[in-house]
Amino acid sequence: MNATDAVRFWDEMHAARTAATDPQPNARLTETVTGLSPGDALDLGCGDGGDALWLAGQGWHVTAADISAVAVERLAALARSHGLGDRVTAGRHDLRTSFPHGEFDLICAHYLHTPFNLDRAAVLRSAAHALRPGGRLLVVDHGSAAPWSWNQDPDVRYPSPREVAADIDLDAATWTVERADAPRRIATGPDGRTAEVTDHVLLIRRTA
Ligand SMILES: C[S@@+](CC[C@H](N)C(=O)[O-])C[C@H]1O[C@@H](n2cnc3c(N)ncnc32)[C@H](O)[C@@H]1O
Repeated sequence: MNATDAVRFWDEMHAARTAATDPQPNARLTETVTGLSPGDALDLGCGDGGDALWLAGQGWHVTAADISAVAVERLAALARSHGLGDRVTAGRHDLRTSFPHGEFDLICAHYLHTPFNLDRAAVLRSAAHALRPGGRLLVVDHGSAAPWSWNQDPDVRYPSPREVAADIDLDAATWTVERADAPRRIATGPDGRTAEVTDHVLLIRRTA
């Protein structure tokens, strides 16, 4: 599978879903960010943009990146229609080869999973380096598969947050792990079904 396959896969995945008019933020984002002073945020693999729009509504200036032009164009249009066009910059990046420029106070990567090769550790290491001192990197991964997930591979293994942190391999003199756990929650699928799922949550803070 090559780069074109990945772009096509994700464009088709997004295009197959009705464009959301009011996408909701992820629960781990809102619980982590509520109470933080707004600054510059970066959303890696922004999808339908619920996180980027929520952050912008909280006063953050958000750079949102996704491999899919469908996702990026939908988010840009939504941000304008929500009156948040000046706070959201949505751009197409294939994170295998392109990382957004800038320094950030918050970088989030929610469910950045793909069936194509992606050196996530390298992407997340780039993210950690793009943080300003005091900034946070929030990585939320699936710890289980929801019944509506595209990935129903019974052999799939979900690395623990500590394993993800070990893969990123950051210098403890500059970055510290603030949270690494596996909370459960009730998730709602695209068709309204609900199911209990596990998240793998890793929160890293740049201290220097
Ligand atoms: C499972 S979805 C999660 C979307 C969103 N963060 C959320 O929480 O709903 C994964 C997202 O990553 C994007 N993606 C996959 N591979 C990527 C890559 N190589 N570079 C950038 N984005 C990618 C997909 O288009 C998709 O929007």
